[in-house]
Amino acid sequence: MSSLLIGSTAPNFSVPSQTGEINFHDWAGDSWVFFFSHPADFTPVCTTEMGRTAQLAEEFAKRNVKPLGLSTDSVEDHVKWIEDVNDTQKTTLKFPILADTDHKVAKAYGMIHPSESTTAAVRSVFIIDPDNKIRLTMTYPMNVGRNFDEILRVIDALQLADKHGVATPAQWTPGDRVIIPPSVTNEQAKEKFPQGFDEIRPYLRYTSVS
Ligand code: BEZ
Repeated sequence: MSSLLIGSTAPNFSVPSQTGEINFHDWAGDSWVFFFSHPADFTPVCTTEMGRTAQLAEEFAKRNVKPLGLSTDSVEDHVKWIEDVNDTQKTTLKFPILADTDHKVAKAYGMIHPSESTTAAVRSVFIIDPDNKIRLTMTYPMNVGRNFDEILRVIDALQLADKHGVATPAQWTPGDRVIIPPSVTNEQAKEKFPQGFDEIRPYLRYTSVS
């Protein structure tokens, strides 16, 4: 099992996809990456997830995020299955899906959980920033489809945090108040957030940014 932690460099690889060979770091370039694995082509939950990702193409592009899928099936399977995804989910899937047939990437990223399957990946998510750093990981079992509103929400939260040096509270969505981290003193906060802030406790201060 790999232990890729938040802050680690996302390992590079070169693997075929239905859009051609993907050298990960070259392909990612200056973009963020939503890298996600699924167990198998021609399966129902995976079909809905691929469709949802394709439907959200503009939302990902707006955030400078490239989606990248992975399963341990072949390029030929991906090509045939994508026809079904497009047909059943009413979309046009354009992002690459890696064909990790030798499980090289799935193993490096800890996507194979042997008590679920020794050959198929679970539903892993890695949000990777333009410096190739892993910024968020999530793992779902095979029988639970992911919530793509949450995936966009965490990308928004990470990008807002980078831009303003803030944190986001529970249930935050874009437009909500954000938190000033305890590492920022009140003196610094006054300079950094001239719009002002509410001090509920010395460690709990809210402000608004956009
Ligand atoms: C699915 O995509 O529906 C699925 C795939 C593997 C195991 C369970 C569900």
